[in-house]
Amino acid sequence: MEESEVDCRRFVESICNNYKWCKILLPLVGYLQGFDETHGLPHTVRVLCNASSILSESGRKLDEEKLEDLVIAILLHDIGRGLEELTESHHALLSAELAENILKLLGFSRERINRVKKMILEHSYSLGSEPSSIESCILSDADKLDALGAIGIYRMSVVGYNDSKPLLSIASHYYDKLEKLPDIMCLDVSRRKAREKLKILKKFVEELVEDSLEYEEAIIYLLDRSLAPATTSTTRLERP
Ligand SMILES: [Fe+2]
Ligand SMILES: [Fe+2]
Repeated sequence: MEESEVDCRRFVESICNNYKWCKILLPLVGYLQGFDETHGLPHTVRVLCNASSILSESGRKLDEEKLEDLVIAILLHDIGRGLEELTESHHALLSAELAENILKLLGFSRERINRVKKMILEHSYSLGSEPSSIESCILSDADKLDALGAIGIYRMSVVGYNDSKPLLSIASHYYDKLEKLPDIMCLDVSRRKAREKLKILKKFVEELVEDSLEYEEAIIYLLDRSLAPATTSTTRLERP
């Protein structure tokens, strides 16, 4: 664990030392995306670090320009998320549009802007497009890995809480979406990583379902004996 934290920090440090635009893009990402742990700058940094470990574990080497474009696409892949509700447009489309404008201002060539935009558009499964290059695969896989493991538990719980969702909606989200993530990973190394992380999430969800059902049974027991206000009602929880 300690080693990967250091590797991650070193990767981010090397990017900021090697690429002068880093000092402009990182604060901009923080400003546009915010700093919340679920979808803000910390998420983007984790995606960057996941991409670094996918690259090193797969033994793949990208040429300097492709690596630089991948890093830029990762930094900008979710910058439109805050505008999603306002515009009712998908955040990948918004992020790609914002990225185009930012990179134009920074003097990037049309060809490179298009490459970055394509990666951003292809990172989201829900938009319906599939990764068409190794770089797109790395961004898409690295992003999905952040929804799994211990961080996945945290993100799933916080999002559920913020949306005032009932406890067991977390389990539905897991069975409907997260459980399928390893199968839609592009690269073998990502699939292996995803399966390992999924075990942690699965154990949590199974325990949660067990505990929630016990909790519901206690509430029903109390209601049956009129120990709770007559207006209170509960919905029967179904085991997924
Ligand atoms: Fe995204
Ligand atoms: Fe993301």
